[in-house]
Amino acid sequence: MIKWCVVLIWMLQQSSSYNLNVRTINGTYEDNIILEVNSTTEFVVIFPSVDNTNPFRVITRAENAKKFYPVLVMVRQATQVTSWQLPTILDTTQKEKHLLFYNVSRTMCHDDMDSIAQHIENASSALKVLQSFIVAISTSDTNVVVHLKVVEEKEFYVKLNKEYSLMISPSEPKYVYFSYARDVSDTVIIEVDSEDDVCFTVSVQDSACPVLVTNKDITYEGYYQTVSTKGALIIKKTNFKYGFFLVFVAKPDNYDCGQEKSILPIPRTYKMALGNRTSSLTFNIKNSINDGDYTQASVITVLFLGIFGFAIFMMTVAFYKWGTLSKIHLEKVEKIDSANGDLLKPQSANRIDYLLNLDNLKLNALAQHPKIDKRRSFNYLWHICSIALFYSIPVVQLVVTYQRVANKTGNQDMCYYNFMCAHPKFGFSDFNHIYSNVGYVFMGIVFILSSIHRQMKVPLRLQIGIPVHYGLFYAMGMALIIEGLLSACYHICPSQSNYQFDTSFMYVMSVLIMVKLYQNRHPDINASAYATFTMLGFTVFLEGFRKFKNDIVKQGFTKKTFEPVKKVRFILLLLVNLLNYVMLISGLLMYHSGITDFGTFLLGLLMGNSIIHAMFYTFMKLIHKEKLCIEALIYGLLGCATWAAATVFFLDAATLWTVTPAESRQWNQGCILMNFYDKHDVWHLLSAPAMFFSFMFLLCLDDDLVNTKQSDIEVF
Ligand SMILES: *[C@@H]1O[C@H](CO)[C@@H](O)[C@H](O)[C@H]1NC(C)=O
Ligand SMILES: *[C@@H]1O[C@H](CO)[C@@H](O)[C@H](O)[C@H]1NC(C)=O
Ligand SMILES: *[C@@H]1O[C@H](CO)[C@@H](O)[C@H](O)[C@H]1NC(C)=O
Ligand SMILES: *[C@@H]1O[C@H](CO)[C@@H](O)[C@H](O)[C@H]1NC(C)=O
Ligand SMILES: *[C@@H]1O[C@H](CO)[C@@H](O)[C@H](O)[C@H]1NC(C)=O
Ligand SMILES: *[C@@H]1O[C@H](CO)[C@@H](O)[C@H](O)[C@H]1NC(C)=O
Repeated sequence: MIKWCVVLIWMLQQSSSYNLNVRTINGTYEDNIILEVNSTTEFVVIFPSVDNTNPFRVITRAENAKKFYPVLVMVRQATQVTSWQLPTILDTTQKEKHLLFYNVSRTMCHDDMDSIAQHIENASSALKVLQSFIVAISTSDTNVVVHLKVVEEKEFYVKLNKEYSLMISPSEPKYVYFSYARDVSDTVIIEVDSEDDVCFTVSVQDSACPVLVTNKDITYEGYYQTVSTKGALIIKKTNFKYGFFLVFVAKPDNYDCGQEKSILPIPRTYKMALGNRTSSLTFNIKNSINDGDYTQASVITVLFLGIFGFAIFMMTVAFYKWGTLSKIHLEKVEKIDSANGDLLKPQSANRIDYLLNLDNLKLNALAQHPKIDKRRSFNYLWHICSIALFYSIPVVQLVVTYQRVANKTGNQDMCYYNFMCAHPKFGFSDFNHIYSNVGYVFMGIVFILSSIHRQMKVPLRLQIGIPVHYGLFYAMGMALIIEGLLSACYHICPSQSNYQFDTSFMYVMSVLIMVKLYQNRHPDINASAYATFTMLGFTVFLEGFRKFKNDIVKQGFTKKTFEPVKKVRFILLLLVNLLNYVMLISGLLMYHSGITDFGTFLLGLLMGNSIIHAMFYTFMKLIHKEKLCIEALIYGLLGCATWAAATVFFLDAATLWTVTPAESRQWNQGCILMNFYDKHDVWHLLSAPAMFFSFMFLLCLDDDLVNTKQSDIEVF
């Protein structure tokens, strides 16, 4: 039966195509033309030539058109042909699910777009540009009513600093043209806002016809990004010679903007239900910064860091001259470098028992191998260097590849930038976030120089003072430098696949701090560089394996402090452990309720432990009637202040790599410093000195014991 029907229809079509009746009518602009098309009658509507620089928009509607016998619309201009069908069928991300659109409209690219674009720039006398349209409408169906309208696009040439609103749908894309007037700076920022949650694509394309406007082909030109409620693009003037088209088209469904598995509280209930796909949006093109501003911001940053470094250096020199260390006795003491070999008896098998049974454990019992200790402490430095080398090679390769792909494809969904404050330069899309890491490198170098200076002023001496592990300090300075480099790499293209680069050396630093604090009073204890790094590598490895997250803390870094039994110490340790579990549990809760991701959770745990450890150490010092010298106090207070300030900027994040790019954009914020840096940059710039001050605090913490005999120094 169906077969016969098909044959019949085919025959009907065949017979009808033989006596096709083409009717030509004269169209008028801005007029609603109603046509009744059928398989035997095709309409050709001729619109007269007009002299107008504005392009025209062809609007068609056929409410009773059928999916299998669509109405075909073809628009002919002097230089191009555009065609579509009514209804337009668009695929959604759901299987076998299609959407039909009965309203379809397109803006016809102006035939003389090239000369208009160049003309606008020259801004000379009026331009004569003619355009005309021939619209052909045909179908294989029987009697379909088609509404046709050709209207002038009056707001096509958009200006700076003016808010425009548009309505778009998947079948009704819109675009506007922006040209560079005299007052346009070297980069412009396009801000897009939408009230509804319809997912759409924004694209910036070169000012040449044809403009790619459909969901299928919009990604083949220029830059594009998906937007849900907020979007921003920073465009360099040099990338588009004669201005650019700004294209908007809604997506058939919201899948690309908000996956259901997203961990964020979603403001409106997400439904795959394909309701109204019309979105109303507003956009505004504003001036961003000029090339000069890049130089200015970079130079000011370096100058500021230079002045800061100089001030620190003066401070350090002053401290050595008049501070606690000025009272150091260097005469008549043996330096370990000139001592031959290690002291006292060789390691005995039951040494641990001996130490545990010692009534009054003093530092000298645990500092019998200064040479080995020194070598061991330098192992940390060499390990840091080799780890950094091997870790950073794939990192650099990965992010550079990402950046090149992003540049090549123009896909702005690959990297999670703060698009409201991402200044492109040197082929990087987000130069300011890379550059702001200069603080870590600079402060790292200053710290290493301070350690060298100190090693010269305070050499390791036998039996006197805390045996400072300078190697560990160099390792800390090195880790700070590498943290800066890795963070810079991460910010070349932040994404879900490389977020751990940003924080891996933060882990290293917090562990180094704990090791340092521990070794101050247990120089000989065998937590060698190897063991620590094995532990650390394991930790970083574990980050991907969430189910192990419980083990890590239980085995972790609190255990090794459990040795001699003393009352105060025991209470403090109990407190430390309690705090740890509180941190662990609240971290886990936060992690499960989606407030934080696993990397941040782990970092918080390690950082928290370092802070607790430092507090514990300071507290024990005070309990044992040791003084806190003025240098440590100053550095400690400076550290606390900078940490507090930095944390404020850290918590107010402008991107979120755990969600979709469109959702991350909702967090985007403008620049706050010199029109160049955003809050995360300020975090970079503040946390570098914060780290530095913390390290300096550790460096000076035991300065009060500089002349004390090791046999008088308590172990805790
Ligand atoms: C259309 O316009 C042209 C010129 O303006 C005229 O010669 C022609 O007769 C018109 N055709 C119809 C069907 O009105
Ligand atoms: C097709 O449409 C034309 C005018 O719109 C009409 O004159 C003609 O009768 C129609 N043909 C059929 C088969 O319906
Ligand atoms: C199609 O266009 C008509 C007339 O402009 C309008 O009334 C109708 O709401 C539109 N339909 C959709 C789905 O946008
Ligand atoms: C615009 O001006 C430049 C020089 O100012 C000239 O080279 C170019 O040909 C002009 N373009 C047009 C379309 O007139
Ligand atoms: C779709 O939503 C827009 C606003 O977002 C509204 O203006 C339009 O009338 C709606 N269309 C339909 C068919 O509901
Ligand atoms: C650790 O200490 C033991 C003796 O207690 C010693 O034999 C061993 O060499 C030490 N390991 C390192 C890496 O220093």
